[in-house]
Amino acid sequence: MISVDDRLRDLRDAIRHHEERYYVLDDPEISDDAFDTLLHELERLEAEHPDLVTPDSPTQRVAGRPVAGFPTVEHQAPMLSLDNAYNAGDLRAFDERVRKGIGSGDTAVAYVAELKIDGLSLALTYEHGVLQRGATRGDGQRGEEVTANVRAIRAIPLCLRQAPSGVIEVRGEVYFPRASFDRMNEEREQEGEPLFANPRNAAAGTMRNLDPALVAKRRLGAFVYQVIGDVGDLSEHTGSLTRMRAWGLPVEPHWRRCESIDDVIAFCDEWAEKRQTLPFETDGVVIKVNDLALRQQLGSTAKFPRWATAFKFPAQQATTVLRRIAVNVGRTGAVTPYAVLDPVFLAGSTISMATLHNAEDIARKDLRDGDRVLIEKGGDVIPKVVKAIPPHPAGSVPWELPATCPACARPRHRDEEEVVWRCVNASCPARVQRSLEHFTSRSAMNIEGLGESLIEQLLAHGLVKDCADIYALTSDQLESLVVTPKEPKSERARARKLGKVGRNVVEQIERSRHNDLARLIYALGIRHVGEKSAATLARTFRTLDVVMTASVEALQSVDEIGPVVAASMRAFAEEPANQQLIARLKEAGVNMTSQAPELSAAPGPLAGKTVVVTGTLDAMSREEATAALERLGAKVAASVSKKTSFLVAGREAGSKLDKATALGIETLDEAAFLTLIMSEPS
Ligand code: IVH
Repeated sequence: MISVDDRLRDLRDAIRHHEERYYVLDDPEISDDAFDTLLHELERLEAEHPDLVTPDSPTQRVAGRPVAGFPTVEHQAPMLSLDNAYNAGDLRAFDERVRKGIGSGDTAVAYVAELKIDGLSLALTYEHGVLQRGATRGDGQRGEEVTANVRAIRAIPLCLRQAPSGVIEVRGEVYFPRASFDRMNEEREQEGEPLFANPRNAAAGTMRNLDPALVAKRRLGAFVYQVIGDVGDLSEHTGSLTRMRAWGLPVEPHWRRCESIDDVIAFCDEWAEKRQTLPFETDGVVIKVNDLALRQQLGSTAKFPRWATAFKFPAQQATTVLRRIAVNVGRTGAVTPYAVLDPVFLAGSTISMATLHNAEDIARKDLRDGDRVLIEKGGDVIPKVVKAIPPHPAGSVPWELPATCPACARPRHRDEEEVVWRCVNASCPARVQRSLEHFTSRSAMNIEGLGESLIEQLLAHGLVKDCADIYALTSDQLESLVVTPKEPKSERARARKLGKVGRNVVEQIERSRHNDLARLIYALGIRHVGEKSAATLARTFRTLDVVMTASVEALQSVDEIGPVVAASMRAFAEEPANQQLIARLKEAGVNMTSQAPELSAAPGPLAGKTVVVTGTLDAMSREEATAALERLGAKVAASVSKKTSFLVAGREAGSKLDKATALGIETLDEAAFLTLIMSEPS
């Protein structure tokens, strides 16, 4: 009879082996069910013998508790960034600098070319072969300790095979495999949640969330590419890669030793094409001097090692026909143009829509309905239109923003101060749809399952006209509408599924009745009242009745409520239609009070800084970015002035970015912003 100790050891070894086959080698030997059977047996045995549980057991990946925040940790050696090369000329110039640096004259230098993983860099510390710490890059000197999240990534072993004794640090990249990314975005779409624009930001967003269970659920991947410190006998980078693989670490297998820069260029050309066949995103090739002693000799600048460079693949482009420029109407009535394209296959997916910045940009590029256009896909899911390819179709005319709202045909309007045009009709069907989507969204009333398509149907069937009607919906009504499943199912299975979805939505609606007042104020979509102001109003006045009757002066006397928010809140409160809406919400049993604790007055690391956020961020909403900055003590302002400490500029940043540049104010792109909030303790 096998002892419990032996069985536990066998099970753990078997599970580690299959984790490696599946997550590291992408070549499983057993089915998911068979794997789960092993895991369940281990869980059961460990539950019976809790004294025999070890921290590196595969059951201990997600310890089950969300962490309170991420402590800041110092890196053993700085995590540098890489200089970039964009073409063969840049690569040859890099090679020349290297040869000059080591005085090798015309003798070729051997390099290793590796695929550049488009993710988030991590430093992993193993002590006597056991994973002790995982940290993000942060500002390069100090990062965030995200060990609990790192442990939840199954590609990263909790203990190494044949590892050296003592402490070793390996560095690498955590990434979103394409399949996991697509699956997550499909689920988000079904739930009516905003989609992640690209796998890189989704990986960064996942790693900075506080719940390791979410990391486990999202099935991130990881690759390591560097050993830090002295591991004894290594003299070449190829040796480090093979050694790390032997320890059981995930090493991207397509690396190649190149005898000269010509071989490197051939590798880059080859992968610029072949990269679509990979199960993950790569944005280039990293080229490294192979000989470790030569690396020492070359050293680093303050930012980059002189022994490595990153070749960036050119953005992938395609031509297609711009069928028409359509316009979307948002919740606040903002009218934004977008391109409807003849479907074209580009960089792994079929594209039928592209973003267009604004009417001015369309005019500058002179884009017209029917044009042949060049489109480009960088790292993002949604591509952009680069330019029109002449000539324009015969008889075409320059595009103009329609004078009336495409949804309700009322004239559009633009405030003097603003760039965007708006539909000002509060009952415009497009605005009502978007307002309801906002009301149910995650940062507002958080009614999961009640997303875009269900709202569209509820409106079409006259079951809701405004947000108060949501609280009168029954599961029967919802079941009759919920989205048709993609695959045909047996009638009974289908009915079961619909019944479940309907019941779930009703449960979600019920749950939302108890939300704190802050969510409700935000959900009402009052102009200029964002998540932060809503929370401040709720915390200060405690009930919606008091907020609705507060004078402009009373509102403005609240710290952080400025004249614009106060006036807008007052205007909303005075409107009889809004008063009736709130009375109906109250009658429906929606909570109108706040029990939220007072805001803490402790100064954060960004105390005293005034920050402006503009453009579209991929990893989070503007409100979430504002909340993250405020948690760190920054004041978030609406417009750029001399007092602005720095500007966070997402995609399609416009006039605020121009103004900041003109004033010489520091600007952070999304990546730098994520690094900042990740490197600061929250
Ligand atoms: S080596 C001294 N190898 O790219 C820097 N980096 O743009 C050593 N990256 O910060 C980095 N794949 O996060 C290296 N195969 C690879 C990589 C890689 C992705 C990331 C890394 C780095 C960034 C620089």
